[in-house]
Amino acid sequence: MSRAAEPIADWEGFDFETRQVHAGSYEDRNSGLRVPPIALSAGYVFDDFDDGVARFAGRSHWEGAASTSRGEVDAFTGSEPAPVYSRQGNPTNNVAEERLASLEGGAVAVAVSSGQAAISSALFALAGHGDHIVSTASIYGGTRILFGRSFARFGIEVDYVWDAEDDAEWERAIRPETKAIYTESIPNPRNDITDLRRIAEVAARHRLPLVVDNTVGTPALIRPFEHGANIVVHSTTKFLTGHGAAVGGAVVDGGNFDWAAAETAGRSFPLVTRAPRPGLASMLDRYGRGAYARAVRESVVNDIGPSLSPFNGFLLHQGMETLSLRMDRHVESSQRIAAWLEEQPEVESVDYAGLPSSPLHALAQRDYAARTGSVFGVTVRGGREGARAFFDGLRLFSRMTGIGDTRSMVLHPASSTHASFAPELNERLGITEGLLRLSVGLESADDLIADLRGGLDRVAAR
Ligand SMILES: Cc1ncc(COP(=O)(O)O)c(C=O)c1O
Repeated sequence: MSRAAEPIADWEGFDFETRQVHAGSYEDRNSGLRVPPIALSAGYVFDDFDDGVARFAGRSHWEGAASTSRGEVDAFTGSEPAPVYSRQGNPTNNVAEERLASLEGGAVAVAVSSGQAAISSALFALAGHGDHIVSTASIYGGTRILFGRSFARFGIEVDYVWDAEDDAEWERAIRPETKAIYTESIPNPRNDITDLRRIAEVAARHRLPLVVDNTVGTPALIRPFEHGANIVVHSTTKFLTGHGAAVGGAVVDGGNFDWAAAETAGRSFPLVTRAPRPGLASMLDRYGRGAYARAVRESVVNDIGPSLSPFNGFLLHQGMETLSLRMDRHVESSQRIAAWLEEQPEVESVDYAGLPSSPLHALAQRDYAARTGSVFGVTVRGGREGARAFFDGLRLFSRMTGIGDTRSMVLHPASSTHASFAPELNERLGITEGLLRLSVGLESADDLIADLRGGLDRVAAR
């Protein structure tokens, strides 16, 4: 028998930097593998006939590769439900899920195939035909398109609040059939950060779960659950996986929303609180704190099918190992570049809440220590033609859609992510023809500034 101490299975209480390397991981005592392998298996073998029956009924428990718990513990058996098929879950993805749940300070995470799948799955578990969602207006263009097109076709209406500080606007927007409040911590593309605490108060007052897209922030910069959010969604394609190689997403259940009290107050969430048929238990009765995540996994992802490839799940859990280090560098360079850009004669304005000149600076200091990520807007002189000159003059920044890569990237929102919106809407959103979105990567800030100078020289030469 080994005299060595048992490996650590519970990472609670360890610092962020330790958890980002270890949470969810395990040592495989049989193979000696230290890095959890890619479990490329679509399904899982049943022990026998009765085990198959039990697994489909969710009555068999999991003693698979992961030595740690995903937190989806069945209140009746005290154990994890055993896996059935990789559309519902996979050991590689479980590592990423557990790591992300730990970093966000949530109860359970569910990995899905993209950020769009995360937003859809998170909200489909709350709202159906005839229901309603209230969102802040400044959100990623793709999410606005998702709400206006697919959600509308499925009978879920989304209304926007333009001034999140205005309580009266929230009160006017929220209806009896509203099922969630939705926002982004650091909105893409304009870095116009939201006061999550304030929105969380509105949500709590109306017994509504607050869903926050934390893609641009990441848990290294802000953990929305600490500010009152109930559900966090991510495009893991970006900073979490970190290298621009794999599309993915995740939904994190904070485990802090009182579903039963909401139901009593007239806000019903049937997938969480109601039994699927008489005689069966509801997700809430069965999974308690992880009930919502279980509803996302079993009742939405399993039905619709946006599960994450284990290959991408591997890249995700490996990417998260260096998250805080990368975010430090992303932010340090962005702060320098934003301050430099602001001084350039060819620049009209810079939207970076971490800048002392930003009207959002006080909030940025309070909630982000002025570290508001590395995705922000810069408006150059000369409108669309100025933007064109700048865009075409860059050599190190990649001209492409995407954020949160190791590489720096530039995009012209008005002609891309926001091209399908009416000019009046774009004007209201502040998406002007001269605005460019930068995503600052991990290259040397000096080299990036030299490249931006080259782009601005073309603006000056017009
Ligand atoms: C804030 C935000 N949320 C969600 C998404 C969608 O993510 P994905 O491209 O992984 O579907 C993006 C993509 O840019 C994003 O920036």
